[in-house]
Amino acid sequence: CDSAPHHSYVIGISQCMTDDEWRETMIQEVMIEAANYDSLKIEIRDAHSNSEEQIHQIHELIDRGVDILVVSPFESEPLVEVVEKAYRAGIPTIITDRRVNTDCYTTFIGADNQKIGELAGQFAASNLPKGGKILEIWGLPGSSPAMERHRGFVSSLAKRKDIVCDSVHGNWLYDDTRKALLAYDSLNGIDIIYAHNDIMAIAAREVMQGKKISRPIMVMGVDAVTNTGLKALQEGQIDVSFLYPTGGEQVIRTAIQILRGESVPKEIPLYTTTVDKNAAQTLLLQNHQRRNYQKRIMEQRDKSNQLLSKYEFLQNSLWIISLL
Ligand code: FRU
Repeated sequence: CDSAPHHSYVIGISQCMTDDEWRETMIQEVMIEAANYDSLKIEIRDAHSNSEEQIHQIHELIDRGVDILVVSPFESEPLVEVVEKAYRAGIPTIITDRRVNTDCYTTFIGADNQKIGELAGQFAASNLPKGGKILEIWGLPGSSPAMERHRGFVSSLAKRKDIVCDSVHGNWLYDDTRKALLAYDSLNGIDIIYAHNDIMAIAAREVMQGKKISRPIMVMGVDAVTNTGLKALQEGQIDVSFLYPTGGEQVIRTAIQILRGESVPKEIPLYTTTVDKNAAQTLLLQNHQRRNYQKRIMEQRDKSNQLLSKYEFLQNSLWIISLL
């Protein structure tokens, strides 16, 4: 084991939701990294896409006295008060993925969403015919990545005055995107769809396949992390995506640094890049390795727990014998 802090520590993680593949991957990464330290306990709360519930759960983690609080917010504004409360109470507070509208936190870990938007905009600009038409599918407007992915996109298309842009709201979700696009009657004539994440890009492609569309539409996504997204890239349902790492490993590493008393920067940026069909292949292999690795770690854990209970049983038996 790595040289870990000396006694037991609890890291409380408030997740806005856990039932999507991107967040499952984040949790996998957290658990793999945390398995390197004997003294860490991870407590995860799932707010089921509800800011009220998330606020309530963060209060509960504060009251429970967690040593580090990690928050992946549902929306950026409603969490301000409770995050400030945790930080002011002296709990090191790590914000990850989506931002909270306050400076009262220890560090923010996440990829640069504005840059992702810019990369997407550049890609669109170089693939759009004159007078081309873009349909943007938004993530949840109250969450910072949606606003930043939009802002970056628009800024790098600013010089193309000939382009026409339209938008619908998919709220990061497959079902909402399907609904929005089934009701959208101008898909014919669109050249590029820019979806703020891969799952909405997949929904868009599926709806498109069910409608009569006269010319090919290029579909762009963001994430390139989940098996579903990467397979869609490999099979050509999504034409290009932009890497949005989950940061699960960095969250634990940073928490350990804080627990050791080391100082950490206010912003910890995660790497992003353009992901095409070929890169998707490599990332899929990495996913496969990570899953095997996690399986092995869990098996090792089970074995050592079994050994530990045998040892405790023997110790107790010896103690009883010594009393006889
Ligand atoms: C997962 C997700 C990702 C997206 C991120 C933005 O819940 O929707 O697909 O990139 O959240 O916060």
